[in-house]
Amino acid sequence: MEKAKRILCVGAGYVGGPTMAVIADKRPDLEITVVDVSQERIDAWNSDVLPIYEPGLDEVVKRARGRNLFFSTDIASGIKNAGIIFVSVNTPTKTFGEGAGMAADLQYWEKTARAIIEHAEDDKIVVEKSTLPVRTAEAMRRILESNDKGLHFDVVSNPEFMAEGTAVSDLENPDRVLIGAMETDRGRAALDAIVDVYAGWVPRDRIITTNVWSSELSKLVSNAMLAQRISSINSVSAICEKTDARVEEVAKAIGMDSRIGSKFLRSGVGFGGSCFKKDILNLVYLCHCEGLPEVADYWEQVIKINRFQETRFVRRVVKNMFNTVSGKRIAVFGFAFKADTGDTREAPAIRVCGMLLDEKARLAIHDPQALDNAKLDLAERAGDFDFHEDPYAAAEGAHAVLILTEWASFKDLDYKRIFDSMEKPAFIFDGRNILPHGELFDIGFNVFPLGAPAMTHM
Ligand code: NAD
Ligand code: UGA
Repeated sequence: MEKAKRILCVGAGYVGGPTMAVIADKRPDLEITVVDVSQERIDAWNSDVLPIYEPGLDEVVKRARGRNLFFSTDIASGIKNAGIIFVSVNTPTKTFGEGAGMAADLQYWEKTARAIIEHAEDDKIVVEKSTLPVRTAEAMRRILESNDKGLHFDVVSNPEFMAEGTAVSDLENPDRVLIGAMETDRGRAALDAIVDVYAGWVPRDRIITTNVWSSELSKLVSNAMLAQRISSINSVSAICEKTDARVEEVAKAIGMDSRIGSKFLRSGVGFGGSCFKKDILNLVYLCHCEGLPEVADYWEQVIKINRFQETRFVRRVVKNMFNTVSGKRIAVFGFAFKADTGDTREAPAIRVCGMLLDEKARLAIHDPQALDNAKLDLAERAGDFDFHEDPYAAAEGAHAVLILTEWASFKDLDYKRIFDSMEKPAFIFDGRNILPHGELFDIGFNVFPLGAPAMTHM
């Protein structure tokens, strides 16, 4: 097989695994190997229980694994054999040194670059799949070009836009694929090679090409704009609760303006996930470094409103439960940062539960997929909390149910049964506005939708 058809991906996480599985599925003529430093992760990718929960992923992996999709910890051989290397290692917010709490921590990224120069025996295309600060490609190029073997590496940016929970459909049918490369002859050739990978199933007019800096910046701005819409509508939810307007009606009314659009206007308890906050902080850091404090402040406000939304939600719970939740059992439905994933990174539930534990509430936490991660997230927390596979068991004896994730299964529960098993007065705080509030009120609950007037019997 010619080298350009042998693809390696370094990093078998939420992005590397699904992305490469879909490429392998759609392009049986390519050979894809995904490597990781974590033996445990690779073993899971090679097993029947994949390391991440993602609808439709099992089928895709089963079709391709062993045929043209391989998972391994042999990074050295992977690098030697591949013509194209995607890098999708984690790029978390730095926790130490210069830029701590804001800048991206590029240590995993740099280690990968150094592994590439150590093991490569010929020229390669290196693709930035991770989300990176603007101009990382230049640093990457410099490190790679520092090799003393006379090898040449072309760095291409190909940020990933998939969302968790819908990764497979996003990858199979993307709004767009973005590929940025250096504006040189070699850069253009590398760009064509990556376009060719996707052109096997993505319509050509959805594959857009730019210079490498536009590509890197577009990824940060894309996440910042999505998060900004959520903070905007969440800020409106706060106004709604003061004025008896309903945020869902407002969202519908504004979203029908085709210039605004209806997507990403669901008000909730706040956005979570591993990327929105991290990528905005990255943008904010870039603005500060480039002497643009006004622009930095503008984007930072998106994060502040998100934190305010979580705090506001908890304050509303405490205030309406007679100003104290101390010693009261509270059922938390949903810990994942969004539905259809077991991922809890930056989940609003972590901070909401933390604040409630500070108030000395007793928490009974239920989530259909995220309990293992929830246990890790709360491992260091003092306080009274336990975890339940069964939502009815979590609600039994509780004073309130809080909806923190928009799992469809929460809509199908028998709320009469839940109400009957709870302490009275029984409260529901719907932090995702997914339940039928009128019906719950008729059952006897005091219902607190988000960004809408409360419905109480008191
Ligand atoms: P992740 O933590 O799930 O996966 C990263 C993997 O890289 C881990 O398994 C880790 O063990 C591995 N790794 C780290 N250093 C390594 C090394 N030197 N060699 C080999 N493997 C190494 O992270 P993720 O969620 O997949 O995100 C990866 C990147 O993609 C980030 O930059 C993120 O911002 C971006 N991104 C994530 C999403 C998402 O939905 N999670 C979407 C788009 C973009
Ligand atoms: C997000 C982006 O949607 C992806 O395009 C991007 O690739 C990815 O980040 C990334 O770079 O990691 P993801 O975080 O997986 O994807 O999920 P989203 O659907 O964007 O949801 C993020 C958070 O916003 C969730 O907590 C969700 O509940 C919340 N949200 C979303 C709302 O509160 N309201 C909405 O209307 C939409």
